[in-house]
Amino acid sequence: MANVIVIGAQWGDEGKGKITDLLSKSADVVVRYQGGVNAGHTVVVQGQTFKLHLIPSGILYPDTECIIGSGTVIDPRLLIQEIDQLESLGVSTSNLMVSETAHVTMPYHCLIDQAAEEKRGEHPIGTTRRGIGPTYADKSERTGIRVVDLMNGHDLWDHLCRTISAKNQILEKLYDLPPLDPTAVLEEYLGYAERLRPHVVDSSLKIYEAVRRKRNILFEGAQGTLLDLDHGTYPYVTSSNPVSGGACVGAGIGPTVIDRVIGVAKAYTTRVGEGPFPTEIQGPLGEFLCQQGAEFGTTTGRQRRCGWFDGVIGRYAVRINGLDCLAVTKLDVLDQLAQIQVCVAYEIEGKTHQDLPTNSAVLSRCQPVYKTLPGWQCSTADCRQLSDLPPQALNYLKFLAELMEVPIAIVSLGPSRDQTIIVEDPIHGPKRALLHGNGLPTA
Ligand code: GDP
Ligand code: IMO
Ligand code: MG
Repeated sequence: MANVIVIGAQWGDEGKGKITDLLSKSADVVVRYQGGVNAGHTVVVQGQTFKLHLIPSGILYPDTECIIGSGTVIDPRLLIQEIDQLESLGVSTSNLMVSETAHVTMPYHCLIDQAAEEKRGEHPIGTTRRGIGPTYADKSERTGIRVVDLMNGHDLWDHLCRTISAKNQILEKLYDLPPLDPTAVLEEYLGYAERLRPHVVDSSLKIYEAVRRKRNILFEGAQGTLLDLDHGTYPYVTSSNPVSGGACVGAGIGPTVIDRVIGVAKAYTTRVGEGPFPTEIQGPLGEFLCQQGAEFGTTTGRQRRCGWFDGVIGRYAVRINGLDCLAVTKLDVLDQLAQIQVCVAYEIEGKTHQDLPTNSAVLSRCQPVYKTLPGWQCSTADCRQLSDLPPQALNYLKFLAELMEVPIAIVSLGPSRDQTIIVEDPIHGPKRALLHGNGLPTA
């Protein structure tokens, strides 16, 4: 029994949705603790694909409680759309709870996000344009509207009257856009409030009750370590804290509740949007990885940039998140390659660096130092245990474990639940995982 955090160890889209869904079988409660509808978590069950944005990936299990926590930002229109979509596919959302202290994404947040990206011209961040940054900015500025305000028509009107004239000035004067009508916004959002009201709870209290009842809780991260506002490749980051530390703040629990932290990493690397990416592969090989891995954004449909596995950011993710173990996904995408490169260090102006530079401008000048490993050139899609893997694939995994100094608990070889090797169940297993690097003890 354990309370486990699942985080993305790279730039997002590592396969957190698949891993969370897989582990949700043993979880009683699944909590999303940060981010908003910028996330896109894909879960494939018996050939059916579910694309989740705000709703935790535990929702496909009818008895699992799913909580959208305090640290998230909620676009009510899109959340309702997501609820309706799941219900139309036969998935019950009666166990879905929404924190009353989460902040609400309003129409002006989305308009400002879009307009600000346009205004950045040749130097955009490449946001998802879902209003995430402006919603978190209002939260920090203490002008945000929370779910609890949305639930009370008078409070919502008060808040709107105070904020919307300032936002209209920004829209009109800075971005040359038409102003919003507060009455129309009120009417629209009161409608959303009625739809969401049955789901709204004091989420920290709910989670604490689950802790006291010794239930298994899974904390599902969105985005990834390198997109963290404080610890990512700033300013090419999101506006929340996807790292494991963010789970305590975003869920409203203390760190002593957490038993394990699992990092999800692809067997290679991808990134959507702008920002430095030292191991990015340009040309046909990058295109091959993109096609083979179906690397198109779940939320925006944008083509993801693809590159080799980066051990420097991997080690960084171990440090920043305190990772206990790894889930390595999409190993199958490398099946056809004769040789595979892994970045073991960076070189900057003739000097070798083992650690991630804190300055994105420096990172963009880093040259990866590669170690070349042999490929296996056969399908791994049907492997169900480590001994089924071709020796080169096992060797590749051991190399990653040794490089990151963290054992591997799960290997994923395809989008569906069964295309997985569970080396050790991180929820029920002992507090150690079994696939270590060659140079590390195996028990
Ligand atoms: P998330 O945001 O971290 O949940 O990841 P996404 O869902 O955005 O992107 C991961 C994509 O890879 C999804 O389309 C998954 O269905 C798919 N996927 C997950 N694991 C594997 C795997 O092991 N192999 C392959 N080929 N696809 C996978
Ligand atoms: P999941 O949970 C990959 C990226 C955007 C952009 C930057 C800021 O599916 O892994 P934002 O809209 O958050 O202000 O955009 O962050 N980004 C993601 N990239 N996966 C995600 O979520 C992402 N969410 C945001 O592309 O570069
Ligand atoms: Mg995604």
